[in-house]
Amino acid sequence: MENTNREKFGSKVGVIAAAAGSAVGLGNIYRFPIVAGNNGGGAFLLIYLLILLFLGVSLIVAEFIIGRRAAKNAVGSFKKLAPKTAWPAVGFAGVVTAFAIITFYSTVSGWTLDYICRSVFDNIRGDNLEAMNANFNALINSSWRPYLCQALFIIMTAVIIILGVQKGIEKGSKIMMPILLVILLILLVRSLTLNGAGEGLTFFLKPDFSKINEKVIIDALGQVFFSLSIGMGTMITYGSYISKKDNLVSSAVSICICDTMVAFIAGMIIFPAAMAFGITPTAGPGLVFNTLPMLFGQMHGGYFFCLIFFVLLAIASITSLISLFEVVVAYLVEEHHFRRRNATLLTLTVSIVLGIFVTMSLNEHSTLKICGETLFDFLDMITANYFMTIGGLLVVLFVGWKMKKADTIDELSSGGTIRSLFNDLVYFVIKYVAPIAIIIIFVKKILD
Ligand code: PHE
Repeated sequence: MENTNREKFGSKVGVIAAAAGSAVGLGNIYRFPIVAGNNGGGAFLLIYLLILLFLGVSLIVAEFIIGRRAAKNAVGSFKKLAPKTAWPAVGFAGVVTAFAIITFYSTVSGWTLDYICRSVFDNIRGDNLEAMNANFNALINSSWRPYLCQALFIIMTAVIIILGVQKGIEKGSKIMMPILLVILLILLVRSLTLNGAGEGLTFFLKPDFSKINEKVIIDALGQVFFSLSIGMGTMITYGSYISKKDNLVSSAVSICICDTMVAFIAGMIIFPAAMAFGITPTAGPGLVFNTLPMLFGQMHGGYFFCLIFFVLLAIASITSLISLFEVVVAYLVEEHHFRRRNATLLTLTVSIVLGIFVTMSLNEHSTLKICGETLFDFLDMITANYFMTIGGLLVVLFVGWKMKKADTIDELSSGGTIRSLFNDLVYFVIKYVAPIAIIIIFVKKILD
């Protein structure tokens, strides 16, 4: 029988929880504030929300349609739906992108492990910005800590996959993510009541229209794709596990809402606190890794909140990393007949080896630079802003123009059982709005 070795999720909540677990991660709490800070705050937020509203749900749905229709991995899905064409190359590009993301995502995941250890010994909180900076720089310049933490993180991910306990993790994250949300809300209150919080709040919420340019738009587009895990096969792979009865549109809406809520609250915490502490919005990683320990330093019960927060952040990033692994592993198992365990071990080994170079590029003495940027920043930018967005464009073109309309409608309506105006709207967006919007953004960028 086909597909016997495919992981199956028992209920709709199972897949949605997994897909939401993939979406919510470092992209929301770490990357979103950094990219927003580099792009003028409020102006970025506005463009981000517009892109999310118009494209986010439809792109998730488009990937779900491909995955569920074909019930295969990212490459196999295109092969099955468009045999003897070049379309499987889109899936293959997704597998490569997943690999590239693993290498730098795991660097930051590793930092969360380091911060957990230091939270245990309580030598991370403080009120002195120089000390916080020194702490963070000591970590990225250490000759062993970031590498060990990164490798441990990747190994933990692989062990979870080999033991086949992802579903357990996802079940667990249904309890843990609401706890993360509660902690974020507590942090939000603390941040907003700091002296001098107003400046950061204005920076994040008040759009300065003069700041909107092509870079802001491309960065926002890339951040939407990165944050929702779209444009590189994750949602195709997870879509292949969704039951035929489930409503794809409402699932995608739930995922977008969860994801955006976490990113928005993260911004509402980070900017007011950072600016109150004298950290500039363009401080990069320090924006998060310095601001939060300082915020915990100013809280009653800061020790516990700090520890719990970093544990939950690590869990949120592990569920994202699992989904990245899943793209590669499902591909190797189904297209190259690897055993799941071997596929996972191979992915683990290559990720650790390549990941070390990426982490090394952040060391102050490193010469691992491409186009003047560290390997880390280069991979981060090129995957989110180009690979994922162009991947997403090809996905909507495939669903809107290559797949048979009857098949697409059948998936959208779950075999004709769900009829709603939303389905027609989503179909319209997939076919016309999304491709045109993405193409316009790129053409403007090229002409710039
Ligand atoms: N969306 C994840 C996050 O926000 C990152 C991710 C990207 C995961 C692509 C899977 C695929 O952290």
